[in-house]
Amino acid sequence: MCGIVGVTGKDNAVQILLKGLKRLEYRGYDSAGIYVNDQDGHEYLVKEKGRIADLEAEIGSDVHGSTGIGHTRWATHGVPSKANAHPHVSADGRYYLVHNGMIGNFAELKKQYLSDVTFKSDTDTEVIVQLIAKFAQTGMATKAAFKKVLNLIDDSSSYSFLLIDNQEPNTLYVAKNKSPLLIGVGDGFNVVCSDALAMLDQTHDFIELIDGETVIVKPDSILIEDTDGKRIERKPFHVSTDASAADKGAYPYYMLKEIDEQPGVMRTLIKHYISEDGSIKIDDNILQSLHQSDRIYIVAAGTSYHAGLVGKELLEKVAKIPTEVHVASEFGYNPPLLAAKPFFIFLTQSGETADSRQVLAQVNEQGYQSLTITNVENSTLSREATYTLLLYAGPEIAVASTKAYTGQIALEAILAKALGELRQVATAADFDVAKELTKVANGEQELVDEKKDIKKIAAALLPTTRNAFYIGRSIDYDIVQEAALKLKEVSYIQTEGFASGELKHGTISLIEKGTPVLAVITDKHTAKHTRSNAQEVMARGANVVFIASRSLAKDGDQIVLPDVHPLLTPLVAIVPCQLMAYYASLQRGYDVDKPRNLAKSVTVE
Ligand code: AGP
Repeated sequence: MCGIVGVTGKDNAVQILLKGLKRLEYRGYDSAGIYVNDQDGHEYLVKEKGRIADLEAEIGSDVHGSTGIGHTRWATHGVPSKANAHPHVSADGRYYLVHNGMIGNFAELKKQYLSDVTFKSDTDTEVIVQLIAKFAQTGMATKAAFKKVLNLIDDSSSYSFLLIDNQEPNTLYVAKNKSPLLIGVGDGFNVVCSDALAMLDQTHDFIELIDGETVIVKPDSILIEDTDGKRIERKPFHVSTDASAADKGAYPYYMLKEIDEQPGVMRTLIKHYISEDGSIKIDDNILQSLHQSDRIYIVAAGTSYHAGLVGKELLEKVAKIPTEVHVASEFGYNPPLLAAKPFFIFLTQSGETADSRQVLAQVNEQGYQSLTITNVENSTLSREATYTLLLYAGPEIAVASTKAYTGQIALEAILAKALGELRQVATAADFDVAKELTKVANGEQELVDEKKDIKKIAAALLPTTRNAFYIGRSIDYDIVQEAALKLKEVSYIQTEGFASGELKHGTISLIEKGTPVLAVITDKHTAKHTRSNAQEVMARGANVVFIASRSLAKDGDQIVLPDVHPLLTPLVAIVPCQLMAYYASLQRGYDVDKPRNLAKSVTVE
């Protein structure tokens, strides 16, 4: 949820930490802070409420160092404030700590061990740094005090910690459990970060950490130990992504850049997964495992869950294999009755979503096979699943997911085609996925090129409203759930993506004069029904906008979509809906990329 960075062995530690935090700001952006020291006893702690830019404004020109830690926050315990910002300091001023995650038993630990300590914040994290100092004051070495505290933290907790003892100024004490953390390997320096993106200017070689491991990082050494204190040697993996891929270039916002990148994402997926002769390049082990299963369970959260809804359509209608889609946070604690031979697909842009990871841990415990479809190589859900398929969509920085949604659906289409061919079902033979996705890419290009038309519609339809509806049926119902989430996320308009046939059973009571209703019509079997449902709300004063496929369009429809394969219409229909959300947010003066209360990668349950 939060983003943490650390560096040791570099004279411009302040600049490295700030650049890293800016790259991680999508993980949380309500407050931030850094602590740096140089080897001559000078140390600096600067914290501020708000963005990294607000923190940067507080950092005096005298602040310098070669070792330091930094943090950008998504508040869990304690409101966003300067006092609750990280790093937190022990009462004796010796220890500095940043943390990503949540400590389940912080209140108990505070009560049991720290009743005599004066706290400066309301955070769970401060309890940990005060406890480390408490044990160190009994004469314990920092490493031992750190490990003792880790053993007192309960299993429900998640953490990645970076600790500095100012009596060992060039040393970073590191620990990880559930929250993502990587060690970046340098020459004469080393770095630590929640996501490789933060440190791609410093190194492209990173060491992944396993839950329960602790690390002592110095400029010229990295000592990893497992929970039993046994030394671990681990080779770094190379991240090929170029740091500039994370820059927004001339775009005002990442969301607009990533919407415009969708046609390219389609073409890249075709290039990666489909040969010139049309044969699909997916590991046969994945296809065989899927084929041997008797039911597929797609598990995901948020936008990825919505991509799963379309995945179900594709896997059932192209590959003829029964498929269920589940919200990860529900599945984790209320799983359905499983089939005899289940196979699990985890859809996750970040590869770090705690709700999905919690389910994968159960799936692994029960020995079932799984496939993670993700945009982040070497992410936790990729490492811990049986198989991985990558989206190759490039970094997605805007909190509102766009190109990952269309990328996930396109990859599900390619997977359904390959599986259908293996199962020798006719529907697969008729589904020329390369040709169809090329048509989609051209259609998406057409729509992003006409974005100014959507800007006008958003300005006319959504200037002041507090609520809105997207309506649709069958695959259009899948689309409108994602369309509604986009509008909610970035414009804060209370929006429902509703099965239009269900309106008259109650929810239509919310319709009044001027209520914006966007009707999505790409499915020829239900088109006329959705249109009559739209008539019903218009009769009650709703302000209706029709988003229809060219072959189903009628005069007066405001947004006409290029015709594509009936199972791929979400890939074009979502584009004007993403743009509607973008412009509605822009027109309200909001930060489109960093909506209030949200974070890009949700690493706590
Ligand atoms: C989508 O715009 C949101 N950022 C959010 O719903 C997101 O889809 C969800 O948190 C799942 O994230 P994941 O794909 O990284 O697992």
